[in-house]
Amino acid sequence: MNMSSRITQDVDRACEVLQRGGIVGMPTETVYGLAAIARNEEAVSRVYTVKGRPTSHPLIVHLSPHDDIKRWGHLNESAQLLANAFWPGPLTLLVPRTSLVPDWVTGARDTVALRIPAHDMAIDLLNAVGDAVVAPSANRFGQVSPTCAEHVVNDLGDSVDLVLDGGQCTIGIESTIVECTNSNVQVLRPGKVSALDIAAITGMTISAVDGPSRAPGMLLAHYAPKARVELFTSMDEAEERCNKYELTGVSAVVLHHVDMTRYALSLYDNLRSADLNGNEVVLAVLPPDTGLGVAIRDRLSKAAASN
Ligand code: TXA
Ligand code: MG
Repeated sequence: MNMSSRITQDVDRACEVLQRGGIVGMPTETVYGLAAIARNEEAVSRVYTVKGRPTSHPLIVHLSPHDDIKRWGHLNESAQLLANAFWPGPLTLLVPRTSLVPDWVTGARDTVALRIPAHDMAIDLLNAVGDAVVAPSANRFGQVSPTCAEHVVNDLGDSVDLVLDGGQCTIGIESTIVECTNSNVQVLRPGKVSALDIAAITGMTISAVDGPSRAPGMLLAHYAPKARVELFTSMDEAEERCNKYELTGVSAVVLHHVDMTRYALSLYDNLRSADLNGNEVVLAVLPPDTGLGVAIRDRLSKAAASN
């Protein structure tokens, strides 16, 4: 199969591939996922192999709005409020799992990560499949997440059976992961749904995780292009450094947007472009530490930590 025939907009075809035990690039509003039917152990194991991901890093279970969430996880009051407010949407809830959730999805943990994506094609696919689908971001372990179908094919080549093309992701960075396993509510990975949004809905003070995280995969080094990533607090500083690099023959590019939505939307594509263009250094200007800016800073810091 050549590369272009690996990309389709045909949901039924993607559904057939999944039901035969295949793995499919699935669009979501955040980033593209690498989907497999959660209850198919062999298909899930292929997802780990293709990503090159350690099996100790569990997977998010994606559900349709028509699914009965209670079959998969136990949502406490806070989790229920958050689900009502933000699903379908860019929020993953980490909750105690039910006995239906296979060990190969959670790495035998007693929790499961659940999400209902806000993407019509993803929901059509989930409804067609009629079962839950695991979907980690469809990139190789530690690298930049894909935000369009071509990124998935470029990264995974013929190790992915099919990619369902749902256009460009409208958010561009991964979902907020919130742990609701006891009376505390904790943000394990920042995203479009902010700590303030979560506090407003639950009426609780929300703490972000620092130190070693309880979501394996929240490693310090992640989301990394080949280019070295350097962080700056102002555009002036970044441009000054860029000019210095250019003078010494080092190919550098500045990354910045005043608009947070556009910054998030183009972040991974820009990191990929830097590599394609042969830039040795990406000089990224950190956005303010509020709202979506928190998530952008998180991804940029991890990209820089991989240098
Ligand atoms: O936006 C997203 O969340 C995308 C799209 C495709 O939905 N998915 C995504 O999946 O970012 P992934 O696998 O790249 O990141 C999920 C993170 C991982 O760091 C994983 O370790 C953590 O969630 N996670 C999943 N299940 C968990 C569990 N039971 N306990 C702790 N952490 C868990
Ligand atoms: Mg990922």
